[in-house]
Amino acid sequence: MKKYVIHGGRPLYGKIEISGAKNAAVGIIPAALLVEGPCRIENIPAISDVDMLLNILRDLGASVRMINRTTVEVDCAGARCQTVPYGAGRKLRASYYLLGAMLGRFGWAEVPLPGGCDFGSRPIDQHLKGLAALGAEVRVEKGYMCATAQGGRMKGSQIYLDVASVGATMNLMLAAVLAEGTTIIENTAKEPHIVDLANFLNSMGAEITGAGTDVIKIRGVDKLRGGEYSIIPDQIEAGTYMAAVAATGGEVRICNIIPKHLECITAKLVEMGAEVEEQGDSLVVRRNRPLQRTNVKTMFYPGFPTDMHPQIAAVLCLARGTSVITEGVWDNRYRYTEEFRRLGAKIQVDGKIAIIEGVDHLSGAPMEACDLRAGAAMIIAGLAAQGTSEISNVKHIERGYEDIIGKLSGVGADIRAVEVPDPEQKKVPAVG
Ligand code: EPU
Repeated sequence: MKKYVIHGGRPLYGKIEISGAKNAAVGIIPAALLVEGPCRIENIPAISDVDMLLNILRDLGASVRMINRTTVEVDCAGARCQTVPYGAGRKLRASYYLLGAMLGRFGWAEVPLPGGCDFGSRPIDQHLKGLAALGAEVRVEKGYMCATAQGGRMKGSQIYLDVASVGATMNLMLAAVLAEGTTIIENTAKEPHIVDLANFLNSMGAEITGAGTDVIKIRGVDKLRGGEYSIIPDQIEAGTYMAAVAATGGEVRICNIIPKHLECITAKLVEMGAEVEEQGDSLVVRRNRPLQRTNVKTMFYPGFPTDMHPQIAAVLCLARGTSVITEGVWDNRYRYTEEFRRLGAKIQVDGKIAIIEGVDHLSGAPMEACDLRAGAAMIIAGLAAQGTSEISNVKHIERGYEDIIGKLSGVGADIRAVEVPDPEQKKVPAVG
């Protein structure tokens, strides 16, 4: 088991290269199942969620070959229609995309119910409602979602989502691309990764219009052909490093980004006293004035992303005055607050609202990462705090951040990973 040790209190200077977007990659990799012939996917992030999905494709019989560090070639010609192994599928939130993709490809799927970060209840009723509208019979049995397309092929339909769910929008796109007839999905999510998945599928021959708006139209096609595609940069990874610079002070160029995707985050950091300068596909973030309070409400895109909530909270802990964060997407995203209090943060939670009274300084302490973004926020808090912090349970962080230690060390952070014994694997005394 690993933990991260941080000696905080140093401003950050230099440049950080942003990797491909996790939440696009975890939709695009299962989408390769729908493609006939090899497809080359570039700008793949080296994170454990991606490794798990590529291994699942291998288990299904696909050929998966890393061409270089960020490019993979996937050929699903040899993929078989079989149950997704429970162990790997259960650990991932994104395993639900295999349901849509396998239904599209085979007309049949058995996929473990998804895992992922724990933010309270994470229903998938909108996925199931949409798949049923497309002609699938879905039931949950022994921890698996088991689905069969009536007549062996999905059928185009009109679907209205009660909530603009990212997962349901992407899953239904996957299920509808090879369906017979046209599908219209209303009240869809508009996040950049939705558009990226549509662009990937269109580049392989799909006919999808409207991605990035409230209504997506998919004209079913008979087949998708192989090709090449490059995944967009990760909005949340970039936002996390921007928040880190705001918290510690200094000046860092965040490279390989799409500035438009970061406007909501930039706006808040500027309100708080950071300077953000757009230079082509980079943003230069600097902060050399005291941080000021602000209020933040998380929403669906183009609103402030829920996946930046804990990271912005870490910055606000050091801002002058009282700030309020309102969580507008998840029921329970506040488990990080208990850990922040160990550093001396003054933060109270009331339902979906956190009230943060800024303090002069934080002091390093041990913390336990409870989910991916909370873990990233603990790193930010540790970097800004005086003294030493230790973060345990970092497997959550490594699910979604490529080489976070290397990237932060490269801009002057004193952070390293150390191996510690796993308390769950206590030695069993030998008997007999
Ligand atoms: N919802 C329903 N029914 C459904 C699906 C969702 O009521 O069938 C509700 C949820 O309870 C939640 C809201 O809709 O209140 C949004 O959920 P959504 O389905 O959009 O979330 P998701 O697809 O499970 C993705 C990201 C999350 C990110 C959310 C919101 C992936 C793999 N995960 O989750 O990312 O928080 O969208 O933007 O794309 C992360 O990267 O750290 C992460 C957790």
